[in-house]
Amino acid sequence: MCHSAAQDPESFWAAHAKSMHWFQPWTKTLEWNLPFAKWFVGGKTNISYNCLERIIDQGHGEKCAVIWEGEPGDSERITYKQLLARVNRCTNALRSLGVRQGDAVVIYMPMVPEAIVSMLACARIGAVHSVIFGGFSAEAIRDRVNDASATVIITADGGFRRGKVVPLKANIDAALAAGCPSVTKVLVVQRSKERVEMVAGRDLWWHDLVPGHSDKAEVAELDSEAPLYILYTSGSTGKPKGIVHTTGGYMVQTALSVRTVFDLRPNDVYWCTADVGWVTGHSYIVYGPLCNAATVLVYEGSPDYPEKDRFWSLIEKYKVTIFYTAPTAIRTFMKWGEEPVERHDLSSLRLLGTVGEPINPEAWIWYRSTIGKDRCPIVDTWWQTETGSIMIAPIPGVVATKPGSATKPLPGIDVAIVDADGHECPPDVGGFLVIRKPWPSMLRNIHNDPERFKSQYWSEFPGWYFTGDGARRDKDGYFWIMGRVDDVINVAGHRLGTAEIESSLVSHPTVAEAAVVGAPDEVRGEAIYAFVTLKTGIETHSNTESELKEHVVKCIGALARPEKIIITPSLPKTRSGKIMRRLLRNIAAGKAIHGDVTTLEDMNVLDKLREQVPEE
Ligand code: WT7
Repeated sequence: MCHSAAQDPESFWAAHAKSMHWFQPWTKTLEWNLPFAKWFVGGKTNISYNCLERIIDQGHGEKCAVIWEGEPGDSERITYKQLLARVNRCTNALRSLGVRQGDAVVIYMPMVPEAIVSMLACARIGAVHSVIFGGFSAEAIRDRVNDASATVIITADGGFRRGKVVPLKANIDAALAAGCPSVTKVLVVQRSKERVEMVAGRDLWWHDLVPGHSDKAEVAELDSEAPLYILYTSGSTGKPKGIVHTTGGYMVQTALSVRTVFDLRPNDVYWCTADVGWVTGHSYIVYGPLCNAATVLVYEGSPDYPEKDRFWSLIEKYKVTIFYTAPTAIRTFMKWGEEPVERHDLSSLRLLGTVGEPINPEAWIWYRSTIGKDRCPIVDTWWQTETGSIMIAPIPGVVATKPGSATKPLPGIDVAIVDADGHECPPDVGGFLVIRKPWPSMLRNIHNDPERFKSQYWSEFPGWYFTGDGARRDKDGYFWIMGRVDDVINVAGHRLGTAEIESSLVSHPTVAEAAVVGAPDEVRGEAIYAFVTLKTGIETHSNTESELKEHVVKCIGALARPEKIIITPSLPKTRSGKIMRRLLRNIAAGKAIHGDVTTLEDMNVLDKLREQVPEE
């Protein structure tokens, strides 16, 4: 398979595309106008139809599609037929609110079945969904809603997290109060049952609107390249990028990757612990698994509620066979010890996966022995919001694994590690990870910003896609991802741009300048360290640090809360005025300062900073 895919990738992808349902076949597999790709050109399809009717027509109508459990312990089982009926009612309800093909709909929801229903309903209409993770603040919501020009928002009163209610509707209200002129309607699922404001004419309860609609709905026959969703992610500038994914190619590759990487079988109970607010939730909770008639477990809440064994109790209760989670979660479980794991029978498991950041060999081995009892292969899957699907991962039972390596690219994927001049690096020499051939689920653009799309991904190594990651390949051809080489940091599997956090800090009235770097963190991979200079005449006081932290939370969300704020009279700069981030990273890591510091403007600055972050 690898060989034939490498010889002729287009025929390889076309052969797999034929297993999906198309209202009209494509006439050309790939049209590649670098950097703009079109896959399955001329084809007409619908990914929601492929996840529902196609599966029901295969005889799986009574099969469970979604097993859902809320954090308080309430639960539901939804068959493919029932899911179709719910999606259709939502489709008709959205149409009654004026949602049409091409319109953008923002989804800001807890992990409840309605989140999945809403995504599939948008896809059925050809409306472009933009799911915003529930941890983002009102200001972050406003920016995303406006960039996407969303007309309708689907949300909930609140969602449960660690026994508390996350006030989702209140965040939407604050975002809209800050100015979202495109929004006409807000559809609200009742989940937490707390009192929320409902604005007459704008806000509607889901339970008032949706159930009254018919459970039959017309399916839009969409162009293969019709946009499916926009998902915002962080880059190296202050403004998040709206990554655009389209229909046909995304569908084909996410669906195939579930079969290759997770080796999905008819009786599997598959659990990916991501939130639908991230790409992992889009590709590996919703579209990829449902296109394969999978039974998907969805859990609303936190792993330590009511106790630290919740995940293991869910695996035992629902006899989960495939478990896909993040290294940061695994390191947290390691810290909690084996006792919560040992309370439960995990013998249903047969395959484990990880995603989101490099996994350290210790965590890999713990995962393999303590969770997998040395029986279950681990698939370490490398990919990005931009790639849409898993790109580098072992095929279980085929590719031997090595702890800490995502192993080899999947069939049809052409990746390489190159130096700054684009020459391929010899074995064990680190370089930049690039993708040399277009792939069906690749991002198509940055919403509203094709120039940034070109410069961000396609200008560093002309003709190739630049991932932003550094990596090396060992002499057996295995890939070892070393992490980002741009100003993007990865905190507990959440991707954050340092520039985004810096611009939120300088928006505070007391701040003159800020430089944010990632510092190594045992559990979360990286922690946010912010070096801040205050405006002249501003004195620090006992609350300065916490005030600035809260300001970042207000601008972006709790996921961006800095671990440490270091107030400094000046930042280390070169004579030309560039902040020396390498130095700050070393200081944050508690490392001694090596290398060339002769260009440093004021050597005193370093000593002052080191006093605040003691060396290891
Ligand atoms: C970045 C993408 C893909 C869904 C979750 C994150 C890092 C991701 C791995 C892995 C080493 C990994 C990379 C990548 N990353 N998976 N298996 N091994 N690093 O999506 O937020 O778009 O972040 O996450 O640095 O570029 P994302």
